[in-house]
Amino acid sequence: MTGPVLQVRNLRVEYATPSGPAQAVEDVSFDLAQGEFLAIVGESGCGKSTLLFAVAQLLTYPGSLAGGSVLFDGVDFTSLSPEELRQHRWRDISVVMQSAMNALNPTLTIAAQLADACRAHTDWNDERIEQRSAEVLSMVAIDPVHLKSYPFQLSGGMRQRAMIAMALLLEPKLVIMDEPTSALDVVAQRSLMHQVETLRRQLGFAVIFVTHDMSVVSHYSDRLAVMYAGEVVELGPTREVFDHPEHPYSRGLMEAFPSLLGERRQLTGIAGNPPSLVNPPVGCLFADRCAHANDECRTVRPELITYGEHQVRCHLVARSKQP
Ligand SMILES: Nc1ncnc2c1ncn2[C@@H]1O[C@H](COP(=O)(O)OP(=O)(O)O)[C@@H](O)[C@H]1O
Ligand SMILES: [Mg+2]
Repeated sequence: MTGPVLQVRNLRVEYATPSGPAQAVEDVSFDLAQGEFLAIVGESGCGKSTLLFAVAQLLTYPGSLAGGSVLFDGVDFTSLSPEELRQHRWRDISVVMQSAMNALNPTLTIAAQLADACRAHTDWNDERIEQRSAEVLSMVAIDPVHLKSYPFQLSGGMRQRAMIAMALLLEPKLVIMDEPTSALDVVAQRSLMHQVETLRRQLGFAVIFVTHDMSVVSHYSDRLAVMYAGEVVELGPTREVFDHPEHPYSRGLMEAFPSLLGERRQLTGIAGNPPSLVNPPVGCLFADRCAHANDECRTVRPELITYGEHQVRCHLVARSKQP
């Protein structure tokens, strides 16, 4: 067995705001095995994108790392210079960010953009670059004739797939994707996910995937992390978290999505709003919205506790599991 490709430890990210630092990511730790697919879910503003930016070391002002480490193959990315990081980007880690379909340069052909990335990170000659560019486009089911196309000549779904082709150009070990399918219609989403999954199985890269789409989570991810107010409140094998969510927030979240296979259920949603990230409450960050919160929940911040392969940050769950 080889070790994990990624080890995130006690990661914390702050945004400077006029009213003080906002804790957007708070004490997040997880490992990612080679070839593993980790999905991250949680309501808008809970820190999913910020976490991905921090893992890829792409944070910019007003965001900054406030603590923790990101070990990729044992190398701590948080201690590397921008030039050292550049060596790892694309080759080891690549990132497909939210609204990726607008991230292509409108003034360059697809071939020119793929070639730029190759030249920046390899010493390949023109022939090899062209060959590899055609290959990655074919991988995402785009006909290589589109190497000559400009982004506006491609549909939204094709642009999204072109971004994924770019991310796979140098065969990275980890591909980070932030809601890459959210701008697409359902049919294009399904087809894109199917391609990502086929390629993952073929090429063996690991994936961290942020999505709102619970059917994507349930079909493709090995493990699922649920975030709330900057914290991971639950993390475990996807099937387990789906079938037996433990944290009251995860339970609410699962109930808010209609089950694809199960019987129809009432959509409940979760009343209330997340806490201020500038002046967070001292206790559990979910306590205000939790029907089961008690005095301990309101005064003591719960730790992430491990049960087998499952981790949960909740006093009530912790107490119920005590022998
Ligand atoms: N540039 C910024 N300046 C200040 N706060 C920010 C900035 N970007 C994000 N935030 C805050 O950080 C929190 C997490 O944001 P984000 O990571 O985008 O969440 P998500 O991707 O889960 O929707 C939110 O409360 C958001 O308002
Ligand atoms: Mg986001």
